[in-house]
Amino acid sequence: MAEELIIAEGCKEDIYRTLVPQIASLAEAETDLIAFLANCASAIHFTFRNLWTGFYIVREDVLVLGPFQGPLACTRIRYGKGVCGTAWKEGKSIVVEDVDKFPGHIACSSSSRSEIVVPVIREGKVVAVLDIDSSETGSFDETDRVYLEQICDIAKKFFEYLQ
Ligand code: SME
Repeated sequence: MAEELIIAEGCKEDIYRTLVPQIASLAEAETDLIAFLANCASAIHFTFRNLWTGFYIVREDVLVLGPFQGPLACTRIRYGKGVCGTAWKEGKSIVVEDVDKFPGHIACSSSSRSEIVVPVIREGKVVAVLDIDSSETGSFDETDRVYLEQICDIAKKFFEYLQ
């Protein structure tokens, strides 16, 4: 496995193009869900240094906090609630330019200004979501969505035993 995170210089796309293969290597080197998600959250977090980066895992009818980097966060989010619960319900990524304009946004941290949530989908079912919060508005765009969806696609293999 990659012991040291390599962070490319250049535009966001260049940075993701260096990050995604490293996450793929982490996934090849591990079989345990928590071990992988923990290193995955760390790799994303220390590449982009946003406010909060982590996973919520679907446990029956609720999302439960999984591995993350950042300040303490709410531990449970219900189906359809907040950005995370909405991404779970809709089964698609949500980019929020300004959290104050997203009705029902759950403010785990008052410093959060923008957010992206990407579902991990396995066999047509959302099994987790990847959530990233920024302390600035408008931090996330289509580039983030495309590459974070690739990362969530890598992550889906770890959810076999939860089904
Ligand atoms: N803002 C999220 C809650 C999770 S925290 O940001 C870590 C939401 O509205 O679902």
